Amino acid sequence: MESKWPAELEQGLIPTDDNMGIMTRELGPAAREFVELSKTAALPLLDIGAAYGNATLPALKNGATVVALDLSPTELAILQQSADAEEQRRLVVMPVRFPQEVNLLNSSLSGVLGGQVLHFLDGPTLEAALGKIHRWLAPGGRLYAITITPSLSYYRKFWDEYQVRKARGDRWPGVFNPKDVATPEWRDRLPDLIHLFDTDILGRAVRAAGFEIETLEYFCFTNFPDKHRTDGREFLTLTAVKR
Ligand SMILES: C[S@@+](CC[C@H](N)C(=O)[O-])C[C@H]1O[C@@H](n2cnc3c(N)ncnc32)[C@H](O)[C@@H]1O
Repeated sequence: MESKWPAELEQGLIPTDDNMGIMTRELGPAAREFVELSKTAALPLLDIGAAYGNATLPALKNGATVVALDLSPTELAILQQSADAEEQRRLVVMPVRFPQEVNLLNSSLSGVLGGQVLHFLDGPTLEAALGKIHRWLAPGGRLYAITITPSLSYYRKFWDEYQVRKARGDRWPGVFNPKDVATPEWRDRLPDLIHLFDTDILGRAVRAAGFEIETLEYFCFTNFPDKHRTDGREFLTLTAVKR
């Protein structure tokens, strides 16, 4: 399935073609749970920011119906070509901006994955996004998410400013322009806004949308370049349920 993906830019990191960071070859904890759910899901699954399908493709293999949504139609085309004919019948690709350009039926999904995508949304847009996800999930459905944190790579340079903003009570202390700190080779591969999260801020937003949090923990991928690691808390993994 991976033969159609672009070459790795750095260890385990596949570049997106719309300058929205990278797709990891390795799945993080929440994405692995999403793939596990695909073995038993009664309703379709939604992969937001699906890119080339690191999570969608194994979920299709497991027999699920998957809606793969991404800003990049060309990434979705590669995903679609990577699925076999039978899997393509259970794959819906949607080249749209989430949450603004998409609406699904209420209570129509068993699970939703936001793999390294919620951190491209500003605070109010994140609230709207979580509200939609909550409505689209059936009772008992699960939200899985992976986001970056102020510990990741060159975003560590925002650490002190993040703590100052948080201490004074800013509602969304993690909104920065990543181009202010990225190295030249990464600057053009990133958008103008990045939203770094810690457990307090992401947890508050997810609970406010009506979810019960099952897991919210820091982690780092096993297959990840040493130069982007700092303290092992470079990413957050979240699993939450709609009761
Ligand atoms: C960093 S990649 C993550 C890929 C994969 N989910 C993973 O976890 O490795 C982010 C993907 O989200 C997409 N994306 C970013 N903002 C989006 C939005 N508002 N709506 C839909 N897709 C978006 C980008 O086009 C990109 O393919």
